[in-house]
Amino acid sequence: MHAPATGSHRAWNRFVARLRHGLRIAVLAGLAMAAGADAAPIDRALHQGVASCAGSTCHGRQEATGPRVRQNEVMTWSDPASLTGVHSRAWRVLNEPRAQAIGRRLGITNVAAAPACISCHGDPATVRGPRWQQSDGVGCEACHGGSERWLASHASVKASHADNVARGMWALNDPAVRASVCLDCHFGSDKPGQFVFHRLMAAGHPRIAFELDLFTALQRHHNEDADYAARKGVAGGVKTWAVGQALAVERALSLLPAQSASLTGPDFTFYDCRSCHRTFSDDPAVPIVARTNSWRPIPPGQPVWNDEQMIMLAAAARVAAPDVARSFEAQSRAFHTAMGGDRAGAMKAAAALKATAATLARRFAATAFDRAQTFALIEAVLVGNAAAYTDYQGGAQAVMAADTLLSALVTAGQVNRAAAVALRPDLDRAYALARDANRWDAPAFQAALAQIATRMRALK
Ligand code: HEC
Ligand code: HEC
Ligand code: HEC
Ligand code: HEC
Repeated sequence: MHAPATGSHRAWNRFVARLRHGLRIAVLAGLAMAAGADAAPIDRALHQGVASCAGSTCHGRQEATGPRVRQNEVMTWSDPASLTGVHSRAWRVLNEPRAQAIGRRLGITNVAAAPACISCHGDPATVRGPRWQQSDGVGCEACHGGSERWLASHASVKASHADNVARGMWALNDPAVRASVCLDCHFGSDKPGQFVFHRLMAAGHPRIAFELDLFTALQRHHNEDADYAARKGVAGGVKTWAVGQALAVERALSLLPAQSASLTGPDFTFYDCRSCHRTFSDDPAVPIVARTNSWRPIPPGQPVWNDEQMIMLAAAARVAAPDVARSFEAQSRAFHTAMGGDRAGAMKAAAALKATAATLARRFAATAFDRAQTFALIEAVLVGNAAAYTDYQGGAQAVMAADTLLSALVTAGQVNRAAAVALRPDLDRAYALARDANRWDAPAFQAALAQIATRMRALK
């Protein structure tokens, strides 16, 4: 079994508990190697349902005793008290008072059957096979792909990963494919019903926060051992983080044109929530809380595009694709500015930035991310980017990055576990400062990051 790399993510849990509820414990692990890029086209084969996976000689064991995969995945996935089991209750929550209240405010009579909800909290009607059950919530096949064509064959010792993928299993070992699958629900897609519009949040839906590597660790139910590495390769935490950041930027910019038709402009979900949801006063003695930020040259009063992932991506580019970094940063600034101009100009700037984000995703997928680069990344995120953390969402993403990158160093054996654990209180302090968006204190947060950076340097 895997031990937590740098602690139990308790700080993360307290942190998300502010946005949501419930305290959960998570376990983290990871290794290092390479994998291919280019998100595969995703085929919507029929879902056979979790019951089809739950045979006692398949994934339905009580203990992780399988010779190859753990085989207790169904049990892990079903544990409602843990973060690994969170997807099994995705549909059940729609029957609870919070979801019902969201539905009432939106005028949806039955949220538990509404496409606007079950496209992320269940499965769309088009993929339901004969044994499929709505109560499964986000079942195995919502992530692994409809098993219509691979259910019978994939357990054979002769079936290679490539054979399974050819039959429609999704290659989640590839960070680009994984990012694309998770982002569909953990940000949105152009498929019907799969987008958390601002009006959903205004009706009571939690804000969606995501970081590919950390969230993978939180729901993980597989071992990345030698057998796994031989079959699939292990991308490693740093690559997974970097590709996840690039594809999150790419996804938002892809969805922007279609979600910008309204008279009020792009859906507000694309922006930093706190750029609108702030308090202000007409009393000139009360200081203006918005801070100027050289990363986004925009006039006062323009809604701020949520650049949490753009900030991370800039750091990753400086370290792993320095030849692209400068144009990425120039395009980011141009994009922020263009969002205050006319539609054609904004969409043109978005398209240019999106193309560069996609290039960066491919570059990261082909990068091994050694120890020196990981340390350089940490420095870039915590120190090089410090001026970018004027606002809550970027700050939250930076703490997740520090946590993820430190954990990756530990699991790759590049930093001593005890030394990393000693750093936990500093990380916890930064998590605590990024816990309540209503009490965001940028200078205190920047100081906390600088402190982590100093301690990290000592680990080199
Ligand atoms: C684009 C995908 C998406 C759509 C559409 C969506 N949700 Fe969610 N929902 C999520 C994700 C992801 C989370 C978890 C957020 C997190 O904590 O990061 C969530 C969380 C929730 C929660 C909190 C669950 C808990 O355990 O605390 C409720 C309640 C909820 N959604 C209800 C709804 C309702 C009702 C609808 C339809 C009106 C809906 N959702 C539509 C993706 C979606
Ligand atoms: C939220 C997405 C998600 C859900 C839901 C999910 N998985 Fe996974 N699963 C993953 C990811 C990511 C991995 C690691 C990448 C990989 O190797 O596929 C993984 C890995 C696995 C592995 C290890 C594969 C190997 O080659 O060693 C098995 C087996 C597995 N999952 C079975 C299941 C079963 C059975 C269910 C349903 C009870 C399930 N998964 C539900 C995302 C998910
Ligand atoms: C079909 C939609 C769907 C897909 C695909 C999906 N998720 Fe989720 N995920 C959800 C929903 C809905 C929730 C909220 C469930 C709840 O709280 O009841 C959630 C919750 C989570 C949580 C808990 C978040 C928190 O703050 O408590 C983690 C971690 C997570 N997902 C990771 C992943 C990862 C990693 C992937 C990709 C491998 C993935 N998910 C793919 C729908 C999805
Ligand atoms: C461009 C400005 C803008 C941005 C950005 C914005 N909102 Fe709003 N929000 C509004 C307006 C306008 C309302 C409606 C106010 C009302 O109903 O009185 C609102 C209402 C809300 C409400 C319900 C009203 C309340 O006061 O409780 C919530 C919750 C909310 N937004 C959450 C968010 C979240 C989460 C984000 C970021 C993903 C966000 N908003 C981004 C402008 C914005």
